[in-house]
Formats: sequence, C-alpha cells, structure tokens
Amino acid sequence: MSTPNLNLAMIDGPEAQTAQENADRFGQPGFEDPSKFFIAQRYEGYTAENQEVWQTLYDRQMDFLTDRASNVYLDGARSINLVRDHIPHLDGEQSINRFLQELTGWQSCAVPGYLPASAFFACLAQRKFPTTIVIRNREAIDYLPEPDIFHDVFGHVPLHADPVFADFLQTYGRAALSASDEADTTRLARLFWFTVEFGLIREEGRLKLYGSGLISSPGESKHALESPDVDRRPFDLDQVCETGFEIDHYQPILYVLDSFEQLRDAMNEYAHRILAKNGQAAKA
Ligand SMILES: [Fe+2]
Repeated sequence: MSTPNLNLAMIDGPEAQTAQENADRFGQPGFEDPSKFFIAQRYEGYTAENQEVWQTLYDRQMDFLTDRASNVYLDGARSINLVRDHIPHLDGEQSINRFLQELTGWQSCAVPGYLPASAFFACLAQRKFPTTIVIRNREAIDYLPEPDIFHDVFGHVPLHADPVFADFLQTYGRAALSASDEADTTRLARLFWFTVEFGLIREEGRLKLYGSGLISSPGESKHALESPDVDRRPFDLDQVCETGFEIDHYQPILYVLDSFEQLRDAMNEYAHRILAKNGQAAKA
C-alpha cells in the first residue's frame, strides 16, 4: 500500500506492524484490547515540510471557519489549544490530550493505518479516537482522498471537547460495536457520514459547519454552505439512516441539526433499540 502523498515514515516500523495486526485480528481470542492498536507518535519524524503543510492548511482553513464553523467546534479548538505553529502533539505535556482528558475524558490515540470497523467502534466506546498521524506532502495539499492528521485532528477532535458531542460519540461506538444485523450496520454508517463527517448545524439562525469532512476541506466547506445544488434537510435520525451516500464527489444532500443535544438524544434512543434487540443492558 504505497501512498506517495503521505509521510509514511511516521508509521514505518515493527511497533506499527504489530499494532495493525492487533487491529486486523480484533475480536479473535487474545485480540480484544483496543489499547494494543495504538502506537507512539514519534514526533521527531515530522519534517520541516510537514510542519509547513500543517501551517498552510491551518491558516487557510481557520480563517475561513472563523465565521462559518459551529461555535462548539471553534470553542473546542481553542480549549484543546489547537494552534497553527506546529502539528499537534498527542503525547506529553504540550499535547491536546492533556486538555481533552480534563474536559471530557476523550483521548486522541495514534494508529498505524485503517482499522476494521469493529476495532474502530471498540475505541469509540472507550472514548478513544483512532487518529492518523501521517500528514500529506506539499504536492497533495489541496486534495487527499484518505485521512491524515489534518483531517483527523483539525477536522474531528475539537468537537470531542464538548460534553454533549462527547457523550454522543461514545454512545455511537457502543451501539455500533454491538449491532449484529447488517441493516443496523448500514444505518449506523450513514448516521456517521451525515453527522460526524458531513454535518451542518443551525446556530443563531445561521447555517454552520461541524462535520470533519467539511471542516477540513476548503473546497467542500464553501460548497456545503453556499451552493444552490445542495439539498439541506432538517436532521431526522430515521431519515438520515435511510439516505445512501457516495464518497467520491461533493455531497448533494446534507442534514442540519438544531443542536448537539438533538443528536445526542436521537442517538441514545437508537442505541437503546439496538442494545435491547441484542438483549444487552442499555448503558447509553
Ligand atoms: Fe473523518
């Protein structure tokens, strides 16, 4: 799997190989522990170009978002001390995790690559966000199909500082981990897509961005808010779960929340349904 668009040296080595194997075998006897998927960030592996790419992306996008992202996102970015000067640290004194720990108990945990769905959900159920640590090269600065640390940390993590969103995402992880029929799995993937990745919210009468796929994409964030070609629908969990999506072009349908409480409450109700179906105590 060679991807010249990324600094793959960050995830090259025996520790990353073992962690990936642990994730790929998740659920088999002896492979039940999500903490075994995680690796050290090895921060010294970032090059000067990597740091410059972060700064360029941060400047370009944060400037745009100041008036267009959800206040919950912007407050979160401030409260975890997400800054332009350097790629975020995940470990140690200066890390975003030190702030997150105090705010909601969520942690951003470095992973070696893609995790199978169940391994990913097991992490969310424990308030651990599997985080890509590689960053795109300068040639790929405008478009990268796969996630990198800009997408995962700049795009996703600020919302984890919000107690309501934090509860929602953990409940999502618990429900997705225990979902056993394919219909629920499909529905949950759609819910994730139309909220965590591509969600919009109305705040003080104005449409704002919060989904990470929008937050971290200069092109699509503008399109999502302004294009007359986008069908922006009020959020309704059952309707969202019935809506299919395609990943290779700008989204023609987006769902708009009234508040994160609306998302949390709808998720709690859905989680109860799934957990009850599986005969488990509904912890959500
Ligand atoms: Fe994402």
